[in-house]
Amino acid sequence: MKEIKRPLIEPKEADFIKAFYWDTSALFILDQRRLPSKELYYRADTLRKVRYSIREMLVRGAPAIGIVTAIGVYIGLKEAQAKLTFPLTQKALLRVFAGLEKSLSTARPTAVNLFWALKRMKEAFQRSLGKAPGEKVSKKTFKELLESLRNEALSIWEEDLRANLKMAEYGSDLLPEGGILTHCNTGALATGGYGTALGVIRRAFEKGKKIHIWVDETRPFLQGARLTAWELSKLRIPFKIITDNSAGYLMKRGEVKAIIVGADRIAGNGDTANKIGTYSLSVLAKEHGIPFYVAAPSSTFDLNLTSGEGIPVEVRSEREVLFCGGRPIAPEGSQALNLAFDVTPAENITAIITEQGVISPPYRQNIQNLLRDG
Ligand code: MRU
Repeated sequence: MKEIKRPLIEPKEADFIKAFYWDTSALFILDQRRLPSKELYYRADTLRKVRYSIREMLVRGAPAIGIVTAIGVYIGLKEAQAKLTFPLTQKALLRVFAGLEKSLSTARPTAVNLFWALKRMKEAFQRSLGKAPGEKVSKKTFKELLESLRNEALSIWEEDLRANLKMAEYGSDLLPEGGILTHCNTGALATGGYGTALGVIRRAFEKGKKIHIWVDETRPFLQGARLTAWELSKLRIPFKIITDNSAGYLMKRGEVKAIIVGADRIAGNGDTANKIGTYSLSVLAKEHGIPFYVAAPSSTFDLNLTSGEGIPVEVRSEREVLFCGGRPIAPEGSQALNLAFDVTPAENITAIITEQGVISPPYRQNIQNLLRDG
């Protein structure tokens, strides 16, 4: 099957670690639950399967969730086509679109990229519909509409890859040599390719900086131990996995020169939601005078929120905590609280690296300046 590709991405910059690929029949998603032992792609050719892939974390990481959501809108509308009778009213078509939005918007709550992508797809849908005069939508108009949604989803993907390459360039100059600590997975697996925080690490290494990476295992889903370690091995970047609770003592011993993480949602004042455990790292970094960087594209900013207080924090199944590798690790009947994210206050963040430049405090003003006017 021919993969859908556009010439806009330079081959040398395209990524060899693929979280998903898209051909004319379906979206194929690398099932990250099975990494590193199995590299299996899940065939998502219906809205339900795309939603399931996001919800159950076959695909995860804020930018990747956004891209897959955008492709999901296209897949969902294409799927709906068979059940529609043409010509149909614009009102009926809007109802179909609202159904897709509702389904995808409830897949996961914290990564704002999901909602950002839905908004982009809706705007593309409305633009395309606006071009078709009359109240009725013909089969031909519907096909054109699908085509414009496919193009919009591809643009979202390409923009993300470009943003990652830019962030990598800006961020790699900031990273010192020595031990760099990262949390969760922010690499090609979590994005449209290359990565955000891990992309910065990758570029610094490519530029010849002498770094080695402390990989937080990131309980309970083990994005660090399973996914970041998998990417770093492929890239031949030196690393060691540490248990999440080792980070503080390593900092005390002077073995961490900088921390860099990604983000799921950044409020207008710089407060940042990211994988649970990020907040503790930021407090420890402050205590030990270690720079704490966040790398995220502008699609991760939520300027509707004035602070991190309004960020919805996902609570996932307690099974993820109580079981490991399918086996129970706690007495039967134990309960667990599984907060998937936390919010790091802006004052703990040294700088935020975006594709539009590096943002330093004071964040409220500088985020406005760079993202609203930039
Ligand atoms: O629950 P996940 O694995 O989707 O959480 C991912 C993270 O917290 C990442 O750090 C964040 O999305 C940035 S990915 C470039």
